[in-house]
Amino acid sequence: MSAAVITVETQEDLSQKLIIQQPSVGLSLQGRIRVPGDKSISHRALMLGALAQGETEIQGLLLGEDPRSTASCFQALGAEISELNTELVKVKGIGLGNLQEPVDVLNAGNSGTTLRLMLGILASHSGRFFTVTGDSSLRSRPMSRVVKPLLQMGSQIWGRKGNSLAPLAIQGQALEPTHYFSPIASAQVKSCILLAGLMTEGQTTVTEPALSRDHSERMLRAFGANLTIEPETNSVTVTGPAQLYGQKVIVPGDISSAAFWLVAGAIAPNSELVVENVGVNPTRTGILEALALMGADIQLENQREVAGEPVADLRVRSSRLKSCTIAGDIIPRLIDEIPILAVAAVFAEGTTIIRDAEELRVKESDRITVMAQQLNKMGAQVTELPDGMEITGGTSLTGTDVDSYTDHRIAMSLAIAALVSKGITTIHRAEAAAISYPNFTATLQQICR
Ligand code: S3P
Repeated sequence: MSAAVITVETQEDLSQKLIIQQPSVGLSLQGRIRVPGDKSISHRALMLGALAQGETEIQGLLLGEDPRSTASCFQALGAEISELNTELVKVKGIGLGNLQEPVDVLNAGNSGTTLRLMLGILASHSGRFFTVTGDSSLRSRPMSRVVKPLLQMGSQIWGRKGNSLAPLAIQGQALEPTHYFSPIASAQVKSCILLAGLMTEGQTTVTEPALSRDHSERMLRAFGANLTIEPETNSVTVTGPAQLYGQKVIVPGDISSAAFWLVAGAIAPNSELVVENVGVNPTRTGILEALALMGADIQLENQREVAGEPVADLRVRSSRLKSCTIAGDIIPRLIDEIPILAVAAVFAEGTTIIRDAEELRVKESDRITVMAQQLNKMGAQVTELPDGMEITGGTSLTGTDVDSYTDHRIAMSLAIAALVSKGITTIHRAEAAAISYPNFTATLQQICR
């Protein structure tokens, strides 16, 4: 058996080409691996740590570009955060209500979670003025979904296109509590409102049409906030003003990063991988349910609870996949995994249908259009739907030039597709993977031995 040849070429503009050549004899993926810390939990640990009284110790923080954006914003707001060069990070909180007015624009980079969650915090910090922006992708993503409920609470926020696009300016002030019925199941919207509610006197409630990830709720409670959860109606209420106290947070591995290896292990022949220490919070495990529906051989081992989040080791073996339909309430529980699920569908027998996922069009890229175009270039049969994709599996892929559109999850999904494609695939702008997975290429090389 020989290994795939995987090389990285850095270009003059510092973008990177990831070049993957399938072995002529027979690919096999083997190994026990770990994925970096959960991105959603990492952002929240930094933010709540900054807002708490006392010190927060974060173990297993994701050292990707997105949490670095959160850390630099909250440093500019006055929190002391130790250097993000080890996975053990200490945050000296300044206490709710005590954020300083920064002397410059806060830059959330590529991170929607940083910008949207931070807006709720800033809007409720009375008497201070803030300006926020992001990279070109983030500046084109809709902010009205959080600006609207914040305006309903009495915030003062200004921005382009009817206050819907960053850069945004915020005059912080005391807000009024509200009950917001969100038209979309979005943890970013829910978390933004709950964070605004922390400083707001009275009860602030969010109701969402389907359950989105609940990391904010778990962590807010652990930090001492008074939260009431009504699972029957997907509603959460925070009673303010709250006090938060520094905690020890242990961040599990990110299931969204593990998903690349789960699909790789399932679609590559003669393969067996164990991904250790993965967060399996039920609001995130839609990908495990979808892959099980497709017939993937995935087992959860060593299931345990670590610092308020369920964790397991995931074992995957080569599998014969079949098509399935993914739609409805499962979508928010696997929203970030749809690009890699599309790759799995290319290698499944039959036609897979993904619907109710229009949110994909406003992620770091339009993930419906980009995945359909790039996979089709490789020989797949993917048809775009307004709210998803129709993927006819069973065609073999051939390596060619593809582009990440600077979207981390697209870069990594295409790399997994390349592993099981004939010939050579060149993924342009593959450096985007570092947003959520800095060592992605090293792990890819490691399991291809
Ligand atoms: C996130 C929520 C999701 C997800 C994003 C991270 C979070 O977005 O796509 O990568 O940490 O709250 P939405 O809540 O907007 O769907």
